[in-house]
Amino acid sequence: MSFHIRSFEAYQAAWKKSQDSPDAFWRDIADSFDWMEPFSSVKTGDFNADHVRWFEGGKVNITANALDRHLPNRAQETAIIWEPNDPQESTRTLTYGELHAQTCQFGNALKSLGIKKGDRVVLYMPMTPELTIAVLACARIGAVHSVVFAGFSAQALSDRIEDAQAKVVITADEGRRGAKTIPLKATVDAATAHSNCVKSVVVQKITGAACHMESEKSVYWHDLVAGHSTVCPPEPMDSEDLLFILYTSGSTGKPKGVVHVHGGYMVYAGYSFSNVFQYQPGDVYWCTADVGWITGHSYIIYGPLLNGATSLMFEGIPTYPDAGRFWEICAKHQVNQFYTAPTAIRSLMASGTEPVLRHDLSSLKVLGTVGEPINEEAWQWYHDTVGKKRCPIVDTWWQTETGGIMISGLGSLSPMKPAHAGYPLPGIHPVLLDPSGQEITENNAEGLLCIAQPWPSMIRTTYGDHERCRNTYFRPFPGHYFTGDGAKRDEQGLYRIIGRVDDVINVSGHRFGTAEIESAINETSGAIESAVVSYPHDIKGQGIHAFVILDATATDMPAIQLQEAVRNAVIRGIGKIACPDRIQFVTALPKTRSGKIMRRILRKVAEGEHESFGDISTLLDPGCVDLLVRGAKQLQTR
Ligand code: WT7
Repeated sequence: MSFHIRSFEAYQAAWKKSQDSPDAFWRDIADSFDWMEPFSSVKTGDFNADHVRWFEGGKVNITANALDRHLPNRAQETAIIWEPNDPQESTRTLTYGELHAQTCQFGNALKSLGIKKGDRVVLYMPMTPELTIAVLACARIGAVHSVVFAGFSAQALSDRIEDAQAKVVITADEGRRGAKTIPLKATVDAATAHSNCVKSVVVQKITGAACHMESEKSVYWHDLVAGHSTVCPPEPMDSEDLLFILYTSGSTGKPKGVVHVHGGYMVYAGYSFSNVFQYQPGDVYWCTADVGWITGHSYIIYGPLLNGATSLMFEGIPTYPDAGRFWEICAKHQVNQFYTAPTAIRSLMASGTEPVLRHDLSSLKVLGTVGEPINEEAWQWYHDTVGKKRCPIVDTWWQTETGGIMISGLGSLSPMKPAHAGYPLPGIHPVLLDPSGQEITENNAEGLLCIAQPWPSMIRTTYGDHERCRNTYFRPFPGHYFTGDGAKRDEQGLYRIIGRVDDVINVSGHRFGTAEIESAINETSGAIESAVVSYPHDIKGQGIHAFVILDATATDMPAIQLQEAVRNAVIRGIGKIACPDRIQFVTALPKTRSGKIMRRILRKVAEGEHESFGDISTLLDPGCVDLLVRGAKQLQTR
């Protein structure tokens, strides 16, 4: 692709061009994609306007660029390598030709269910090639996909289905993760039992487990596609037409549906993938994320396929059948670029070096990390033990809302410093602001990370609530996109992400709002009120500490039983991934006279601080702090 940067000098020149003439910069990149009709303007609006629009007037379909474009020369080349959960089962591969045909066929199948351009389809699926096919088929026919991570509970799934008003849900009988099977169809049944919007449920057969198939609503994938043609022309989409909704947590309220569109998202996913991973034709690239998160959307499916790359997709988990599974797969498929999360690195580190050293990792060229800050120890282990000190690490900072990687090294071209994401990609203009909104211009500084210029894959809206989008991202600091992260910039201008400055917590790279977990906890019978904070956790990055007040009906039950009840409430409301690591029952929370919980104090208590709480004179009952500390000590020593 013509936007592929090959040297640090070229990087610097590109960045400068993006600053001096942003429209020309983005036009050149966008011009390397196939447009059914050319766009008439590069960008309209700015962060202060109600909307920023990219490539208006253009007609495009992201799948025409991710699939059809490669058919003349590369139809026989591998698009997807699929590695199953169980290493005894065989690998599946799909060429570009096959992926194209199956996408078209499933697109026609969706049309036969009445799905039209603009309709929403929810995908609640395990990591199999059918998930990629379903995503692409939606995009192909102009339907809006919304993938929900298959670890979310029926309640969380139902919230998302109803918010998106999905007409079809695609799922599987059961998913497989390590030694466990996960009942997916049963969860979809529970989530859709009272739904008025869902008309059909498509079920991929994986384990063959018997599942309840209501005759007029549920249909097996293989029965549905049978007989449909493998020809399905890509729906011409306006650049700004919706491509997908992906739900993510904010600091308040329910998760919000982040909206991305065909044109700008395509341009940025393709451009960023090619440069960050320095992908070369013939390389095998593997991102270990789940397609349920933005990383899987942009860097398992769209980014690689837009570049005609070979993308490996893994159904299982890093520790099954043993802690060598990742490295075994790297060796088996001669993986060249490997992209994972710090939490996975830390958990594998705990199993020692032997499972790594057992496998031939000489094919690796670039290692990537994403999702949370990587601590220096994990960075060193990744660099030395996995990369044998010869592979650069790209520490990629970005968000669901940014659509693509914003700050990161580009393969081995950029300077690299442990735990630093580094420099922004060309076209991305990060700034640090102080709390009053003043820009901090000097280096060696710390502030609130904001982005000063629009970029093509920026969030367009939060589905159904544009005001919420404006208020969360664009109004806190007018003229800027506010990330919610704090960051440092060193003497050389390299960025280091510190973490969230709002009530969003990051557990094993998964993002939750404290308010969301609290409202799930409050569904426990006997729970009156709760407050959730994070504390540093060796493997997960952040652990969840919940403080819960119970009413008189619950207080005589044994604590173990009550903790179990709280855990179950979170599993019901959100899913296991949001379960508190520590549950502390308290009689009071530290509140100010105006009734606001002083989370600063709870965070200190959860972090194991026992003495210096600063000024607590504004608390209604300063004495409650001692009780909190005593309770926390008991939990922490257990
Ligand atoms: C939040 C976004 C983007 C894909 C996965 C997460 C944190 C992300 C890094 C990194 C430090 C990081 C930030 C960000 N984060 N990447 N390389 N270093 N922190 O997407 O669920 O939308 O979460 O993840 O705090 O705001 P997400």
